[in-house]
Amino acid sequence: MEIERRDALTLLAGLAVTACAGSAAAMQPLQAAAAAPPVGLNALAAPKGLRIGSCFASSRPGADAGSFANPAYAALLMRDCGLLVPENELKWQALRPSANSFDFARTDAMLAWAKDKNLAVRGHNLLWHQPKWLPRWLNAYDFGANPAREAERLLVEHITTVCHRYGTQIGSYDVVNEAVDPAISTLYQTSLSRAIGSAEATLDLAFHTARAAAPHAQLVYNDYMSWEPGNAQHRAGVLKLLEGFRRRNVPVQALGVQSHIITQGVDGRATAASLEPEWHRFLKAVTAMGYDLLVTEFDVRDNNLPGDPAVRDQAVADYGKAYLDIMLAQPRLRDVLFWGLSDRYSWIEGFEPRPDHARRRPCPYDDRFAAKPLRAAVAAAIAAAPTRG
Ligand code: XIL
Repeated sequence: MEIERRDALTLLAGLAVTACAGSAAAMQPLQAAAAAPPVGLNALAAPKGLRIGSCFASSRPGADAGSFANPAYAALLMRDCGLLVPENELKWQALRPSANSFDFARTDAMLAWAKDKNLAVRGHNLLWHQPKWLPRWLNAYDFGANPAREAERLLVEHITTVCHRYGTQIGSYDVVNEAVDPAISTLYQTSLSRAIGSAEATLDLAFHTARAAAPHAQLVYNDYMSWEPGNAQHRAGVLKLLEGFRRRNVPVQALGVQSHIITQGVDGRATAASLEPEWHRFLKAVTAMGYDLLVTEFDVRDNNLPGDPAVRDQAVADYGKAYLDIMLAQPRLRDVLFWGLSDRYSWIEGFEPRPDHARRRPCPYDDRFAAKPLRAAVAAAIAAAPTRG
């Protein structure tokens, strides 16, 4: 699956890519588009018992890169969101320069801003269970004479320190991210899980530790299994993992469905209709085990579409609306977060550029912060959603 192209990127490279994208107009506040919709998405969603959110990024010298440092972007976040999640800054690669240090400076600034604006915060993530997303020092770590004990100590220390630092400000955590290898439906191994002895035991420890350190928080397993062709093995692996959590009494409350969805052609509605039955079976299997659902990282990759922006935007909106209609009809789903509100800062451009080099348009707002058809489609999906009790 295309997602494997992630191999080419490290998280830090990702930071640099987004920083460059932003530096074209470094720190210059863009004027928000004149035709900004008057009612924010979160205000539309609240009466339905839903929350809308987005990732955001830290401010770095010389680049606004999706952060609250750009007043026009900050205005969008404040208008449309009730909930934010740091895009990269809570990950091990960002927080852990070494085995015995933490660097909280950027994350602290983001959370202080969110608090000041009265916006709720999710934590992403406490363990991204793949070597390529862990710090180099951890992949090469010498766990000493008693590897299991040292690995457990490191993991528990990390999770406990992060959870205690942010206390009740972080109401929901992606405790474990992307542990399932989609090619073979089984769990990845990392230096931590090898030292501990099994991947299951490592993930279980992460959840038990988060439960103890953040008793108030919603604990989520987050992954990118999706509804498009090629995802069956991934979905099966995630179901197996979720079943195991229940069998072993591991405190996992919800499945985070990342929702980096991919258009399959111009007729988004027809595609969605053909994918829906299989996807419903998956969601039903998840919720039947007692899990809640979240859409944690919604964006729409404009694949298999002509370059014409108007055609792409419409297809993205149709496909996105059909997807959100299904997700918002799920009574166990209350939160929908975008992986960025503006194409200007989206990770998709760096992750997988279009073959024709036309700039990606995966978000509800364009490069200049003007609302696109996807923004209207999301508002319509919210309006059509049933009210939760
Ligand atoms: C991405 C960020 O958006 C990039 O800036 C970074 O280079 C790599 O990570 N699934 C996840 C997110 O769980 O953490 C990823 O975020 C996107 C896919």
